Amino acid sequence: MTPDVTTPSLYLEGIPHDRFAEMRATPGLVWHPYVDRVSGAGGFWAVTRHADVREISKSPERFSSAIGHTNLWDLEADALEARRGLIDTDHPDHTRLRRLVSGTFTPKAIRTWEELTRQIAIELLDEFEAAGGGDWVEMVAAPLPIRVILTILGVPVEDADYLVELSNYLVEGTGEEQSLAPDAFGNTTELRLLPFGSPASHALFEYGLRLRELRRDDPRDDIVTALVQAEAEGEKMSHDEFKNMFQLLVFAGNETTRTAISHGAMAFADHPEELRRLVEPNFPLNAMTEEVIRWATPVLHMRRTATQDTELAGTSIAAGDKVVMWYAGANRDESVFDDPFAFDVTRSPNPQLSFGAAGPHFCLGAWLARLELEVLFGEMAKRGMGLRQLGEPVRTPSNFVHGITSVDMEPVLR
Ligand code: HEM
Repeated sequence: MTPDVTTPSLYLEGIPHDRFAEMRATPGLVWHPYVDRVSGAGGFWAVTRHADVREISKSPERFSSAIGHTNLWDLEADALEARRGLIDTDHPDHTRLRRLVSGTFTPKAIRTWEELTRQIAIELLDEFEAAGGGDWVEMVAAPLPIRVILTILGVPVEDADYLVELSNYLVEGTGEEQSLAPDAFGNTTELRLLPFGSPASHALFEYGLRLRELRRDDPRDDIVTALVQAEAEGEKMSHDEFKNMFQLLVFAGNETTRTAISHGAMAFADHPEELRRLVEPNFPLNAMTEEVIRWATPVLHMRRTATQDTELAGTSIAAGDKVVMWYAGANRDESVFDDPFAFDVTRSPNPQLSFGAAGPHFCLGAWLARLELEVLFGEMAKRGMGLRQLGEPVRTPSNFVHGITSVDMEPVLR
């Protein structure tokens, strides 16, 4: 019997690590049943070991991102086309689209946002401290990344709350229930044609398109302007591609880093001694960020689809089979990480796979996420502020994001 790791409500108790451990210990790949309502497929290959995830990520010619979908379930052909963005394309479309945005996210380009990030982090920590604590997600983990990514995109700060709200609804789309009516936000598009099957995607599209119009007339130093200019210079980007890119950047730049900040805070509340280490002279803050990111595994899996009959870990894979990389499993692979269930801010080396493994789709925003974590937890340690967790967190019922909906914390000042 294969352990089930797909039922979203399972994740209300946290990642089912024992089930991933069992699959990691099983030779070859594990066939995981999963009935697909669209394609009728009966399951997927569950990939839970570090080396196997790496192999898939660096072999896009064998394992496609453009076929079927990059989530567990297949999409109908028209839905896949309508929803296709950077993350669901293969070369050459992927290379063309990625080139349009990659310059903005290099480590050097990202460092230009350090001061802004620090200002926001300090402001949020001041407010959290002054209030004597509260919901860490709402007060710190959500606003930091959204404010940063919205600035980079060129969205005015007064719209931040609205976009956070939209992004939250998208996450719901990965779970079992949606609270929005299909026509919410004036949506008239069939839900299956929208990212996450959510009417909030329609609202994000509308917002992105309006911003694009504004930037056509009034260029600024931001990504939407860069995309408008790339179009003007003849780099082809379709209407749908723009909408999907905007939506992906808002979602990816927000939800994932928020999750890392929430799990990081919980880990530091559990291990105050690890937080204190951050202020030791010459402490490598980048080691801390890698460990927080490994610990959090904000994205639980990504999927590929086999383009040909092939083989991995001694298992034969047929063309068209779904292959799902469970980062949640790979990040606790005991053959790679010593004592994988220990939270150790000096862990080195730390080849965590939370951003995906090396390959064309490796997370575009990895350096931005790292910067935000480094600045936030670095500032916390510097002011001698620890955290006490009050009660259990409310977790997101999703097999795709390792989300924390809310967690109450109070500051502990040393
Ligand atoms: C801790 C935070 C983050 C985590 C854990 C994370 C994780 C991931 C993962 C797992 C992938 C897919 C990799 C693959 O398929 O091989 C990905 C792709 C992506 N991420 Fe992130 N991400 C984070 C932050 C961000 C941020 C801040 C942005 C902001 C721009 C971002 C933008 C993207 C984009 C655009 C892609 C698609 C790249 C492509 O397909 O070429 N991510 N991310």
